[in-house]
Amino acid sequence: MHNRTKSSILRFLDILPKKIGYTIYHMLQMITLKDVDFYVKTNESSFYQIHKILNENNIDVKNENIIEIGSGWFPIMPLIFKEKLVVNTIYTYDINKHYSKRRILNSTALFSKRLNISGSKQLPSFIKYYPHTSIQTATIDYNAKLVYSRFVLEHISHKELLEIHQYLYKNTPDTIKILHLISPSDHRSYSDASISTYDFLKYSETAWNKIQTKFDYHNRLRLPDYIKIIKESGFTVEYLNYDKVDKTSKKYKMFKDLTLHPSYDTYTEEEILAGSINLLLSK
Ligand SMILES: C[S@@+](CC[C@H](N)C(=O)[O-])C[C@H]1O[C@@H](n2cnc3c(N)ncnc32)[C@H](O)[C@@H]1O
Repeated sequence: MHNRTKSSILRFLDILPKKIGYTIYHMLQMITLKDVDFYVKTNESSFYQIHKILNENNIDVKNENIIEIGSGWFPIMPLIFKEKLVVNTIYTYDINKHYSKRRILNSTALFSKRLNISGSKQLPSFIKYYPHTSIQTATIDYNAKLVYSRFVLEHISHKELLEIHQYLYKNTPDTIKILHLISPSDHRSYSDASISTYDFLKYSETAWNKIQTKFDYHNRLRLPDYIKIIKESGFTVEYLNYDKVDKTSKKYKMFKDLTLHPSYDTYTEEEILAGSINLLLSK
């Protein structure tokens, strides 16, 4: 769907009463999100990054419980974790309920041979799904070795991110590791090549809040903001990597053509440009 059409639809849904807005939003997601194969491909590529980071940091999750923040639309990442790393149970939390019977069936059918499970509208018993549950209200009454999130943190406010990490600090074992894959880019640039990856940084908070809606909220936080929140919650950053931008690239030129909002004046260019942020935390 074209960006401008999508934005107009989301802005319209945003002004409807919350329940009606969400119902129509979910119906639209049902129609537009059919491609489970694409979802598998992109999740597999993220999984390889996760696996590499776990290996490099000697973290073994075999037979361990793990927690996913932000389940999303298909239970693909939990299925990949079960297949590739033979984890015990995956507890997955989402403030929304995006899994549907059809999406569960599409996903389990794809992994039926790989995991020796039946393609079913029910989740396998090793995936415990908690929709309508924000992680900072979850009852974590089981032992977990790893918490991970993929493309979730950028959609959560600064205040809530701090609460989440403070809650995890208090309610998880001292040996816990937390791995976040964060996409700090303007998501509108994914489907419109004419928009810079950093376009949204030209707006003031007020102006940006008029453009985005609760359905496509992006906090626009930069790398140092995430690190500050994490340290404030008590966690230590054990490992960090992020993409740098080639100064001869079109991406860099498009960035240089922007006039950033003065609130970003305090950041270095590298801090602003840092993309695909991967953060591993420990206590
Ligand atoms: C962009 S989606 C990513 C979903 C999935 N991780 C993926 O990679 O496809 C972000 C998801 O995080 C969920 N989310 C946002 N805030 C959350 C919170 N505080 N706790 C749990 N889930 C949250 C949203 O409802 C949404 O499903």
